Amino acid sequence: MPTKDQTLVTLREAHLGPMRFMNILSVFELGIVDLMRKQPNQRFTAEQLGAAVGATPDAIYQLLLLPVKDGLIALDERTGEYTLDGLAQLGDEDFARVLPWMNMIKVVCLRQLYYLTDSIRAGEVVGLQKLFGLTGTFYEATLGNDELRSAWGSMMDAVTEFIDPWFFDNVEVGAGQKVLDLAGNTGLGAILTYRHKGVENLQVTCFDFPEKEAEALANFEAAGLAGHCSFIGGDVFKGVPKGFDLVLIKHFLDMFDRDNVLKILRAVAGALEPGGQVYILVPIYPEDIRESSSVDFFPSYFLGCTMAQGGPQKVSTYSAWLEEAGFEVTRAVTQDHATMPADMVPVHGIICGTRKA
Ligand SMILES: C[S@@+](CC[C@H](N)C(=O)[O-])C[C@H]1O[C@@H](n2cnc3c(N)ncnc32)[C@H](O)[C@@H]1O
Repeated sequence: MPTKDQTLVTLREAHLGPMRFMNILSVFELGIVDLMRKQPNQRFTAEQLGAAVGATPDAIYQLLLLPVKDGLIALDERTGEYTLDGLAQLGDEDFARVLPWMNMIKVVCLRQLYYLTDSIRAGEVVGLQKLFGLTGTFYEATLGNDELRSAWGSMMDAVTEFIDPWFFDNVEVGAGQKVLDLAGNTGLGAILTYRHKGVENLQVTCFDFPEKEAEALANFEAAGLAGHCSFIGGDVFKGVPKGFDLVLIKHFLDMFDRDNVLKILRAVAGALEPGGQVYILVPIYPEDIRESSSVDFFPSYFLGCTMAQGGPQKVSTYSAWLEEAGFEVTRAVTQDHATMPADMVPVHGIICGTRKA
């Protein structure tokens, strides 16, 4: 059992989390980090930073106390000049991964989580309704809300870009196969399937809500893959298209509770011929939940911000559900922590199955 003091520290860390988050994000949003990155040899006073970003030197001094304490920004106490500290070691790729997450947490999560308790009690995302007058899940509701959709979409695309090379290293696609990317959003997954697995006569179809079609087709066109990638609009709970050899289900099953996951998997099994393949890519919880930050993020995210249900499961649970839905599990792989950038929250698993006769 943790000591009383350890328990109090845990509670202190919990209430400091949102305060720290906005302090650090604000340093980015004001453009302070950009300014310092553009002139790495320059030292800036609070007056200079304030003048550049439109704030008082006193506010800049206060705002930078935390990043100085955390070692992100350095302060020379003698001269009162700031330079980048730990942040100086990060490259464009790191910022391109971290900042969409921070922006998504601000835009999609911060306000909605005020209603987390209500969402859990109601079994629907109360924040969407109270804050934006939207009903349904985040994915249905935000089809017409650019602010929410684009904050979420940038984060999702960054995750997909990052994880897909590892995913496709573990996927076998044969020449002439027809691949369905179930819940494939606006087609990035289909494009990446083609790029990673450009076998002869490969056809990849993205299936998602019909409202995603125009953007998906524009993305295929822009990628020069209109001849290889196509789109089918629909709702997975109303039917999964037939005629495919292989179905990819990426970042989708984690959005649902057990009953709905089984409905989806059974619908996929029903749409495949015996021997057809399914590859599931999902954020997973490790067998020991203390081994990653996944549970710090996903329960609040799914219950309070997007679905009011769902959340990742352990690989063993997904494997059991896949078997229950009529597949033979042929392989289950978990992402190796050592190969992941230290900021990454989701740890992914891949579970492959073959449709039983
Ligand atoms: C978390 S995103 C994953 C997107 C993509 N597979 C990826 O890995 O980048 C979930 C996707 O599921 C779609 N979706 C949600 N409910 C759906 C349903 N009932 N039928 C079809 N698509 C759905 C959403 O529109 C969204 O694009």
